[in-house]
Amino acid sequence: MRYLGSQHTLSMEKNPSLAPAEGKLGILVPGLGAVATTFIAGVEAVKRGLAIPIGSLTQMARIRLGKRTDGRNPRIGEFVPLAQLKDLVFGGWDIFEENAFESARKAAVLDDSLLSQLKEPLSNIRPMKAVFDSEFVRTIRGPNQMPQRLKKEQAEAVMDDIAGFEERTGAERMVMIWCGSTEVYHASAAVHQSLRDFECGLATNHPDISPSQIYAYAALRSGVPYANGAPHLTVDAPALVELARERGLPIAGKDFKTGQTLMKTVISPALKARMLGLSGWFSTNILGNRDGEVLQDPGSFKSKETTKLAALDQILQADLYPELYRDFFHKVCINYYPPRGDAKEGWDNIDIFGWLGYPMQIKVNFLCRDSILAAPLVLDLALLLDLARRAGMRGIQEWLSFYFKAPMTGPGLYPEHDLFIQLMKLKNTLRWMRGEDLITHLGLD
Ligand SMILES: NC(=O)c1ccc[n+]([C@@H]2O[C@H](COP(=O)([O-])OP(=O)(O)OC[C@H]3O[C@@H](n4cnc5c(N)ncnc54)[C@H](O)[C@@H]3O)[C@@H](O)[C@H]2O)c1
Repeated sequence: MRYLGSQHTLSMEKNPSLAPAEGKLGILVPGLGAVATTFIAGVEAVKRGLAIPIGSLTQMARIRLGKRTDGRNPRIGEFVPLAQLKDLVFGGWDIFEENAFESARKAAVLDDSLLSQLKEPLSNIRPMKAVFDSEFVRTIRGPNQMPQRLKKEQAEAVMDDIAGFEERTGAERMVMIWCGSTEVYHASAAVHQSLRDFECGLATNHPDISPSQIYAYAALRSGVPYANGAPHLTVDAPALVELARERGLPIAGKDFKTGQTLMKTVISPALKARMLGLSGWFSTNILGNRDGEVLQDPGSFKSKETTKLAALDQILQADLYPELYRDFFHKVCINYYPPRGDAKEGWDNIDIFGWLGYPMQIKVNFLCRDSILAAPLVLDLALLLDLARRAGMRGIQEWLSFYFKAPMTGPGLYPEHDLFIQLMKLKNTLRWMRGEDLITHLGLD
């Protein structure tokens, strides 16, 4: 790395191995529910000129290159070679038999008037038979499941599905993004500690290996990068990190950062930046989609609660600022309330204190739409994981932390939660890939 004092930027060798994005990119999603169908329908709508891809960094955002005065601000999609929307093809698995059109209608996120224009491409996406285990998702049941057999055999069946999809669609490359339900909380166990233990566990039906891990294993064995949109463990386990590294594949997770946590990772850095104290943060919300139904189960909620709570602790660093953040009370609730469907409403009450300890309050009332916020993240992750793979990047992709509530990190490192540090990290990684100077914002010229 070379420091360029006069330009206040850092420069690195151009990454030599950035292969072009030629041919079709297959996007495989376990879970064809609200998020997945909103994502696929959105891409099809954009392809037809019916909408613009709002919320997607890869499609909308620009990246500054060089000095502020240079005026070089290309779109990210023009700056790095990403797969084009016209080259995307989709496949998925679900325990329900509905095709993506029927599932999107049931999810009721998008208007019928838009969906009816997308009936043909969506109806052609029919879910493959799911690897499902009611020990991991307890509140829903569906008929479209693989027979219960050895986990090793289920992984092989998923690999066959992936190979079949590749042949059917002519995909040159593929990525897999988990858009399925949140699984019951499981900590990393002995069977997850090495690839050897994990494969042994597959052969002996070890109860700590979840369906999402079977999909992830099958993806990585098939040479397909994997990202986890939900809070459960999946690839955040040494065995699957080992497999990803061995196969030269990028992985990322966990849990799409969309509504309340997005706000949390914007507001809390501001409080810390001004050295304002925090005595309590109470977050609650109501949502009525199937995700909300699954999260009623205490096991699935525990997975979610764990990822939702971690961000504040890391950002505020109570160990360094005990007078400000040592004892703050943090509570997160999710309430299933069917009338709202996907239109989640979140409330945050934030008790803070300032000069001489005087208390103040912030109230946030976010009337959002869960899948509308999540869909562009699925698109970005698919395109950026594919890019990472072509750039020869393997293992955990910390530069994609921007998209996650609980970013995966290498052993011994803490995750970065501050949204704007995450964005800088992402953009600097793209600059590095193209051999552009990294931007430090030093600005002493
Ligand atoms: N929407 C958001 O803002 C947001 C944010 C962060 C995380 N997430 C996560 O994204 C995931 C998807 O959310 P959603 O709103 O689309 O939920 P959803 O319930 O509408 O869809 C999930 C689908 O996964 C299917 N499924 C469950 N287990 C499966 C398995 N083993 N194999 C294949 N399919 C399976 C379900 O049948 C369902 O159709 C959830 O885990 C959710 O927690 C969503």
